[in-house]
Amino acid sequence: MNKIIVLFIYFFLFLNFLKTNCLKQDGCHHALNDRPVIGILSQPASSDKYKEYGYQYIAASYVKYVESAGARVVPILYDQDEDTLRKLLNSINGILLPGGGVYFDEQPIYNKSLYLIWNYVIESNKRGDYFPLWGTCLGFEEIVSVAANTFDVLTSFNASNYSIPLNLTDQVLNLSSNSLLFKEMPLEMLKTISNEPITMNNHRMGLSVETFNNFTSLHQFFDILSLNDDKSGNTFISVIESKEYPIYAVMFHPEKPLFEWYEKEDI
Ligand SMILES: *[C@@H]1O[C@H](CO)[C@@H](O)[C@H](O)[C@H]1NC(C)=O
Ligand SMILES: *[C@@H]1O[C@H](CO)[C@@H](O)[C@H](O)[C@H]1NC(C)=O
Ligand SMILES: *[C@@H]1O[C@H](CO)[C@@H](O)[C@H](O)[C@H]1NC(C)=O
Ligand SMILES: *[C@@H]1O[C@H](CO)[C@@H](O)[C@H](O)[C@H]1NC(C)=O
Ligand SMILES: *[C@@H]1O[C@H](CO)[C@@H](O)[C@H](O)[C@H]1NC(C)=O
Ligand SMILES: *[C@@H]1O[C@H](CO)[C@@H](O)[C@H](O)[C@H]1NC(C)=O
Repeated sequence: MNKIIVLFIYFFLFLNFLKTNCLKQDGCHHALNDRPVIGILSQPASSDKYKEYGYQYIAASYVKYVESAGARVVPILYDQDEDTLRKLLNSINGILLPGGGVYFDEQPIYNKSLYLIWNYVIESNKRGDYFPLWGTCLGFEEIVSVAANTFDVLTSFNASNYSIPLNLTDQVLNLSSNSLLFKEMPLEMLKTISNEPITMNNHRMGLSVETFNNFTSLHQFFDILSLNDDKSGNTFISVIESKEYPIYAVMFHPEKPLFEWYEKEDI
């Protein structure tokens, strides 16, 4: 697949994330900020290869991804003290939680920042201060775990190094639904993302539809925008969107085919 086409599709997806500058319940009364500042949460270095350079990191591809949609990026160090973190949150317009390999349930400091960010996002949006949150892969898993307030919502999937098309749900395809993320995506792009293997998955955990349906905190809060089968035929939720707030999460990696050139991966 031509990288330029993929670039446009993902560029568009993130642009929508930034631009859907209104809460569903109150319409679009807010002025559009076309120079938003997006925070990206760092992670503890997960391998010895990373640790050579420092104890925490942000993969460059996420920064490029956000910048390619016209936003600016500030790093949010996961181990910042609470006051600094709050001050930082008050100074930015949204947050991206990247993919990675953190066992966040074993990282109390990281976990604490994650909850603080989540509560901040909910509180801001509740009082009408539009504050989007995006999760990619691990970020998806973090969002659903924190929303459900348990890490037990995650189960194993066989989806490493696995590029597939999205299987969009009626929530996207039914024009009378009010889903936001794909709403303004041109039909040609929707066709491409639905037919070409351009969504790169690289996860061993995920969220099943059964778990989603079992947890009120999940199915009352999110809509499922896309479903996919893993390599073993088990269905995982690949894209979700909050029913009420600008909170979006994808299991695939939009930033990888665009900004990571690594021949050992299927990108
Ligand atoms: C993560 O933080 C939440 C909220 O403070 C807490 O309830 C939970 O026990 C923490 N989990 C872990 C694994 O530290
Ligand atoms: C489309 O969505 C509307 C509103 O949610 C619903 O009433 C209708 O049944 C849906 N149609 C299909 C084909 O799913
Ligand atoms: C969902 O709930 C049912 C009924 O309580 C239970 O039997 C099943 O194991 C649960 N499944 C998951 C994946 O949580
Ligand atoms: C993908 O979509 C088709 C058509 O809507 C559906 O029959 C199929 O079960 C879906 N696959 C998954 C993994 O949800
Ligand atoms: C994952 O899928 C691959 C390809 O279908 C298969 O060879 C492998 O055994 C599966 N792994 C697990 C743990 O099921
Ligand atoms: C990932 O998939 C690609 C394409 O199928 C393959 O060439 C590559 O060897 C795989 N890498 C790993 C680490 O499995």
